[in-house]
Amino acid sequence: MTLSITTLEELRQTVAGWRQMGESVAFVPTMGALHAGHMALVREAKNHTRRVVVSIFVNPTQFGPKEDFSRYPRPLEKDIALLQAAGVDAAWLPSVETMYPNGAQATIHIEEISDILEGAFRPGHFDGVATVVAALFSQVMPDIAIFGEKDYQQLCLIKRLVKKLKLNINILGMPTIRESSGLALSSRNQYLSPKERVVAPVLYQTLLHASRRIESGDEVSKVLHDATQNLLNSGFHAVDYIALAAADSLRPLTHYTPPARLLAAAHLGTTRLIDNVSV
Ligand code: PAJ
Repeated sequence: MTLSITTLEELRQTVAGWRQMGESVAFVPTMGALHAGHMALVREAKNHTRRVVVSIFVNPTQFGPKEDFSRYPRPLEKDIALLQAAGVDAAWLPSVETMYPNGAQATIHIEEISDILEGAFRPGHFDGVATVVAALFSQVMPDIAIFGEKDYQQLCLIKRLVKKLKLNINILGMPTIRESSGLALSSRNQYLSPKERVVAPVLYQTLLHASRRIESGDEVSKVLHDATQNLLNSGFHAVDYIALAAADSLRPLTHYTPPARLLAAAHLGTTRLIDNVSV
């Protein structure tokens, strides 16, 4: 039996069949190129519901014109094999035409959170994410949906989306899965050269060190300045931001007020890495 579902009709019939039997559904949206971070979300999903749906869709509207949409990895067969082995019930593989039919488009914009931090450097990115996730939610109609803290701002955005649109979906956030070096697993790590791979873990190490300094009372602006310098001295060639923010609203903090989150984005060669830690 194949897991793959490629038409909306088949997806709806499948989910309706489960619903008729009183089975609940968890959903993990992805862009594929699955790694242990994605699979941790899938395992968590299986702990909550009888049925698990994973979507794989490289969403064009969340990539900027100069970003990596066309070179984003798409190892579909390997992904499906991983999902099969993990006991997933359905892999939802919509086409671009299914998600974005020709004609006028509707876009969802979640205010405040979409234009700061990542949003300031990737204009339109979170509108693309909110729009596609809302559409995926209305296709799958899950009871719960699971997202990684790796994309912490995205997780906050989705929680807000569900609240504002009054969707009856429970959003679960899961901790970031890392290599033993501390580097957060990411489909984009494949772009790193061997030399860059050695430098990449410095991002997490820098965030951890900065978070400890902030917790011990050091001045936030000084800590953030030192962290930026450390990244640049270690081989990152640009730091888009390294910022302390309130854990829920992501409102910027100039003084430490827990619960907070320290978030960063930095460039290593042609690869842009993001990471975050709780403070
Ligand atoms: P993608 O980057 O494929 O990530 C899918 C999910 O896996 C997201 O919730 C992400 O936070 C989580 N994830 C990625 N790396 C992780 C890691 N190292 N540890 C734990 N979780 C990790 O995020 C997207 O796709 C897209 O924006 C999407 C939500 C599918 C909308 O297009």
